[in-house]
Amino acid sequence: MKQTAVLEVRGLQVTYAGNCALDLDSLAIATGEIVGVVGANGAGKSTLVNAVVGWSRGTPRAVGEIELGGQRVDRWSTHERIRAGLVLVPEGRLVFASMTVEENLSSVFAPAAAPGRRVYSREDIYELFPRLGERCRHLGAQLSGGERQMLGIGRALMMGPRVLLLDEPSIGLAPKLVSQVLDTMRTLAASGLAILLVEQNVRAAMAVVDRLVLLERGRVVLQGRAAEVGNDPRIAQAYLGATAV
Ligand SMILES: Nc1ncnc2c1ncn2[C@@H]1O[C@H](COP(=O)(O)OP(=O)(O)O)[C@@H](O)[C@H]1O
Ligand SMILES: [Mg+2]
Repeated sequence: MKQTAVLEVRGLQVTYAGNCALDLDSLAIATGEIVGVVGANGAGKSTLVNAVVGWSRGTPRAVGEIELGGQRVDRWSTHERIRAGLVLVPEGRLVFASMTVEENLSSVFAPAAAPGRRVYSREDIYELFPRLGERCRHLGAQLSGGERQMLGIGRALMMGPRVLLLDEPSIGLAPKLVSQVLDTMRTLAASGLAILLVEQNVRAAMAVVDRLVLLERGRVVLQGRAAEVGNDPRIAQAYLGATAV
C-alpha cells in the first residue's frame, strides 16, 4: 500500500539565543504511521515537536518548511496549526487542575469534521479511556499521572488531529500504564491517525512505533524501521541510558 505523508518537515533548524538545538534535514509521517523520536535528555526532542506546532516555553528561532497535508504551515500561528489538525500533547500533561475531568473535556473547542479527520466526542474519549469516565467528576488536580496523561490525550483527540504529537507520554507512569497508553496509540494509528511520539523510554517506544529516529545533540544520527534499527548499538546505548535512571 502506498503511504501518503501527512506531515513533512524539511530543513528545520531551531536556535535558542544563537545556540543550535535542532538541525533536521527531513522527517515525514504517513497516515496511520507511528514515528518514534528517541534520544538522551537535551537531544532536541521537545524542541522538534514544539517547533512543528509553533509553540515554545522559551524564545526559539525556527527556520524550515513544515507541510501538513501538502499545505505549508510553518508561518502559521500555533492556534492556526491546531485548527488545521497539528495537535501536541506537551511534556508534563497540561490539564486544568481546578476543573473536573468532564469540564476539561467540555472546554475543548471542537473543529468541524473534515475528510481524513476524526473529531472525537467526550463519549468517544470515555470509551477509549474508561478510567476517565469513572473519574469524570474528579478535579484535574486529583488525578494520577496516568489519568492526567489520558486526559491530555483525550483533549487532543477532541481537537480532531490529523497528526498527534506526544512529548514523553510515559514519563512518571507505572509500567502497566505505559503499555496501556502506548497500546492506545496503536489503536489510534490503525484508524488512520499519524503519530509522532517522543520517548526517553526506548524500550516502550520500540514496542509500538513503525519507525524510529534517534536524535543526538539536535541531529538525526540513525533512523529506520523499528525492527531494523532495534539491534543497532547506538539504540542499545540510548536504551541503557534511559533505563539506568
Ligand atoms: N527554552 C529554552 N531556552 C534555551 N535553551 C533551551 C530551551 N529549551 C531547550 N533548550 C536547549 O535546547 C536543547 C534541546 O533541548 P530539548 O529539546 O528540551 O531536549 P529533549 O526534549 O530531547 O530533552 C538543550 O540543549 C536545551 O538546553
Ligand atoms: Mg523534552
